[in-house]
Amino acid sequence: MRHLTGIAGLTKSDLEKILETAHNFIEVSEREIKKVPTLRGKTIVNLFLEPSTRTRTSFEIAGKRLSADTINISAGDSSTKKGETLLDTARTIEAMAPDVLVVRHKESGAPDFLAKRLKGCAVVNAGDGMHEHPTQALLDLLTLQEHLHSGQPKALSGLKIAIVGDVRHSRVARSNVLGHQLLGNEVRLVGPRTLVPESLKDPDCFGEKVKIFWDLRDGIKGVDIVMVLRMQVERQGRFFIPSTEEYSREYGVTENILKECAPSAVILHPGPMNRGVEITSEVADGPRSLVPKQVRLGVALRMAVLFLLATREKEEPTGEISR
Ligand code: NCD
Repeated sequence: MRHLTGIAGLTKSDLEKILETAHNFIEVSEREIKKVPTLRGKTIVNLFLEPSTRTRTSFEIAGKRLSADTINISAGDSSTKKGETLLDTARTIEAMAPDVLVVRHKESGAPDFLAKRLKGCAVVNAGDGMHEHPTQALLDLLTLQEHLHSGQPKALSGLKIAIVGDVRHSRVARSNVLGHQLLGNEVRLVGPRTLVPESLKDPDCFGEKVKIFWDLRDGIKGVDIVMVLRMQVERQGRFFIPSTEEYSREYGVTENILKECAPSAVILHPGPMNRGVEITSEVADGPRSLVPKQVRLGVALRMAVLFLLATREKEEPTGEISR
């Protein structure tokens, strides 16, 4: 693994190796002095050209807990505002010899584009448009592994997961579907036809194996995990739902519906949450919610990804600044 641009392209053993490494990093955040020297002398640049709170903070904390030097660049203070291309910005950063470049971008494919062109540093996708958000899916899997197997790194298989909401525009959903398919779990996609179209079953999308439900109760019946998604309003070019009130009435995940249809299910949400729209506070803050755990374990997962990539064998850097 030279870069991490998506779950697509990973093997099951890559995925298990990342989860196992992450498991071993969890205790670092539980120490009084939350720091290990593992990546001392390494440099990590977080290039975030789209808004982010938890992912950016999580990568920064992960890098710092490993003693790497971490630098954050966000849209407002990057030269892309002055008309510089993404590639020129990335090559300028590359010329300063970072070991890992973490990229969030509104265009799908931006991290892959850079990964193909940068030779000197590893590229990590921290969310690209509607494409993938691999570290979110991996931290979701880590959360399930730690919760369901009480901290023992074990293969996560034979599970049923329902992903509810705006699957069409969600990079989190996409990465999670690919991850769960790799592990052999049953994946159900639940939501209105406009956001969960039949075409998600196409061979160039998720394929026939994925199950589609347009009714919330049917979709979550008997599942082990319900992953609730935020409406990706910023990526919807037009209206996909009549109103948030109507969406909430039909697809809002409530404790009553869970009790009725999936009494033992745990809840995941990547955040940010819109309480009262896709999820009620009773569920989000209740005993079945793994949301705080997801955020907590996200740091360990990102430590693992940064560690594996920053210590890999490198190609010779290009040393070029422009195309
Ligand atoms: C997600 C994202 O940005 O893709 N958030 C996150 O990274 N935790 C999900 C979202 O924005 O709804």
